[in-house]
Amino acid sequence: MAVARNPRFQSGPDQKAQSFTASLTFDWRLLPYDIAGSQAHVAMLGHQGVITGEEAEIISRGLQQVLEEAQSGVFEPRLEHEDVHMNVEARLLEIIGPVAGKLHTGRSRNDQVALDMHLYMREVAQRQQLLLLDLMEAIVHQAEDNGDVIMPGYTHLQAAQPILWAHHMMAYVAMLRRDMERILTWAPRVVISPLGAGAISGTPYPTDPNLVAQMVGFAGVYQNSMDAVADRDFLLEYLSWASILMVHLSRLGEELVLWSTQEFGFITMADAYSTGSSLMPQKRNPDVAELMRGKSGRVFGNLMTLLTVMKGLPLAYHSDMQEDKEAVFDVVDTLDALLPVAAGMMDTLSVRSDRLKQRVGHDYTAATDLADMLVGQGMPFREAHHLVGLLVTRLEQDGLQFTDVTPEYLAQVAPAVPFAWMSQLEASSVVRRRRQPMSTGPEFVHTQVDAAKGWIAQLRQLFAEPNE
Ligand code: ARG
Repeated sequence: MAVARNPRFQSGPDQKAQSFTASLTFDWRLLPYDIAGSQAHVAMLGHQGVITGEEAEIISRGLQQVLEEAQSGVFEPRLEHEDVHMNVEARLLEIIGPVAGKLHTGRSRNDQVALDMHLYMREVAQRQQLLLLDLMEAIVHQAEDNGDVIMPGYTHLQAAQPILWAHHMMAYVAMLRRDMERILTWAPRVVISPLGAGAISGTPYPTDPNLVAQMVGFAGVYQNSMDAVADRDFLLEYLSWASILMVHLSRLGEELVLWSTQEFGFITMADAYSTGSSLMPQKRNPDVAELMRGKSGRVFGNLMTLLTVMKGLPLAYHSDMQEDKEAVFDVVDTLDALLPVAAGMMDTLSVRSDRLKQRVGHDYTAATDLADMLVGQGMPFREAHHLVGLLVTRLEQDGLQFTDVTPEYLAQVAPAVPFAWMSQLEASSVVRRRRQPMSTGPEFVHTQVDAAKGWIAQLRQLFAEPNE
């Protein structure tokens, strides 16, 4: 049995217009969610006596068959049916006959597609929060494995003060932790069911939207039917979340690219996460890190797409909103691909601690501490700053570091500075003098690492528990 032609139209659609408006090419991935939503809907209709229990059973079994046929590839959707929803209904009609026509009672594709997206996003959130956790864990390992390595910390990309490599890593863990908190606080707004809104105003049938919500494991239903079909905030929030996450990953990507240059030479990427040049035999390109930075472009772009699509739309549903899907799916796919690779890259990169050690001894990054020591003797900070500035200028001219100077040299160039202080300007002493819990003082950084490990373990446990 085939779908009857809509009697409002004398002629069929223009071919090009049809493929222009169809969403099948990208919404087919919603099929399992569409079927789950429809099964909950018919079960509710049966329960409420809108259709008989037997009809509900037949339709639900038919839907199951559609799903299985689609998964095994037997059922091939047709573009003439526009989208995933119409394709499912068309195939259902072929399988169970006219009773299939009762599936769409008391529902519109407007609330149907919104439910599909909510169901889909629930799974995305569950999957991607785990992927994010894996990445955090890989970065924490990096911090732990190189717990005592010291590197220059930069401001203005000029060597500023020595810091622990682990401190730098834990700064990223802190950013990702906020990303995790954001996705966790967003999740409750995803598990709200729009079904029952119909096209816009609700439906005269005695449906029970809460029952549908319960059956799909959602926490509740929308308060307002117009909002239910017009709302895409939950998708905008996802895209905003992903964009902020990509800002963090892009900054990390940029640092990894810099650090793996010959000029910095702070890290070596594992072979598995490096690529060669087709032309230059000596090259090891940090492609994964570059693309971690580059993929931010498409993610931000997709956020802009949906913000722009939504901003001028009168209530309630418009076909414009069909544009939500490619934007969201592209970001979902990007993160699904990127997060595991980023974790692998972070897990396997090696830190060139010898090179870092040499670097921190040769960059005058202890200068602030020297000024601070003079302040400890009662000198005003501005004066100390000036004096150390002069000393560094002289050292630079003479090709010396703090630790190279002789007592005679110091007595001549900076008589206010006792020679005994020079040994305290080793990077390891400098970091040890940092005393705030947030600082790069080694014991505090180790505490940060331990706290992060505890937090990650707690989340793993939370995610492993069946939700409800
Ligand atoms: N393909 C549509 C979308 O993605 C489904 C909803 C269509 N609703 C309608 N009234 N034409 O938004």
